[in-house]
Amino acid sequence: MAHTQTLEAADLAPFDGVEPDAAWAEEVRRLARERDAVLLAHNYQVPAIQDIADHTGDSLALSRIAAASDASTIVFCGVHFMAETAKILSPDKTVLIPDARAGCSLADSITGEQLRAWKAEHPGAVVVSYVNTTAEVKAETDICCTSSNAVDVVASIPADREVLFLPDQFLGAHVKRKTGRENLHVWAGECHVHAGINGAELSERAAANPDADLFIHPECGCATSALYLAGEGAVAADKVKILSTGDMVHEARDTKARSVLVATEIGMLHQLRKAAPEIDFRAVNDRASCRFMKMITPAALLRCLREGADEVHVDPETAKRAEASVRRMIEIGQPGGGE
Ligand code: 13P
Ligand code: SF4
Repeated sequence: MAHTQTLEAADLAPFDGVEPDAAWAEEVRRLARERDAVLLAHNYQVPAIQDIADHTGDSLALSRIAAASDASTIVFCGVHFMAETAKILSPDKTVLIPDARAGCSLADSITGEQLRAWKAEHPGAVVVSYVNTTAEVKAETDICCTSSNAVDVVASIPADREVLFLPDQFLGAHVKRKTGRENLHVWAGECHVHAGINGAELSERAAANPDADLFIHPECGCATSALYLAGEGAVAADKVKILSTGDMVHEARDTKARSVLVATEIGMLHQLRKAAPEIDFRAVNDRASCRFMKMITPAALLRCLREGADEVHVDPETAKRAEASVRRMIEIGQPGGGE
């Protein structure tokens, strides 16, 4: 039966003694109005946070919404680099994150200094950084991208230019496959959550559910295996869909499949089930929970709105250097999935 599997881990996220009930929701809304704040939530947030937000979506959609919003305060329920990106785009707005410790193992896999050294080895190369990077790395970047527009971004670069793509090796491999570019060099970083969703697990699940679609985030360790399975005929090629979190929601509305295996962080299942309640969505790995995303608890959101903390600051000089690469990102590719 749909909806029984995999919700547990997200639902068991620590609520710090604050139940996300109707009184909590009313207080959050009241405080948000008082602060003239827009609430943004990433698709991996716990269900209660996704449901209270003004907008829930993938990192590209949320960046676009943050840039276009009239609100004087942005409350970013996601991880730190996402809130930092909103601050880079809107330096005059107050940007809050309910828990500043919500980092990202992928963003931590390359520093500004490492990128400068890599660039020195490839003079003249165009640097494309995934949005999961620090402001310091973005300041050394020519164009940022997210999983929903990475292929479009790389395709927009003249074919004869070398490209340094960072920091995710699995997304990099996907972009290389899609664009067929030999002059694309990929940094060997990874997200610990997605790298842990492996090909063996996916093959086993796919064999047990031969009619299911496979929705796979390109950061996953199993993305290459899925394409290999399709290539071998073990899975029908049209069932393998490599998608950003926002594009998964679009595809959920369009697919004719009755069951879908989902390879990404398990918070994603909530939006998918809301978008298509008649489909049986199951996680390929139901332990794939991002502990950083789950630091944004109902209690943390309340505290954030009451105290105006944690505020996100980006050094103005770094922000200025990073802004151009982030603006290019939000201009390239189709709008990602946000509600
Ligand atoms: P999306 O850009 O698909 O929302 O993914 C962000 C992320 O952190 C994936 O782990
Ligand atoms: Fe970072 Fe991975 Fe968490 Fe996404 S799921 S925020 S890439 S650690």
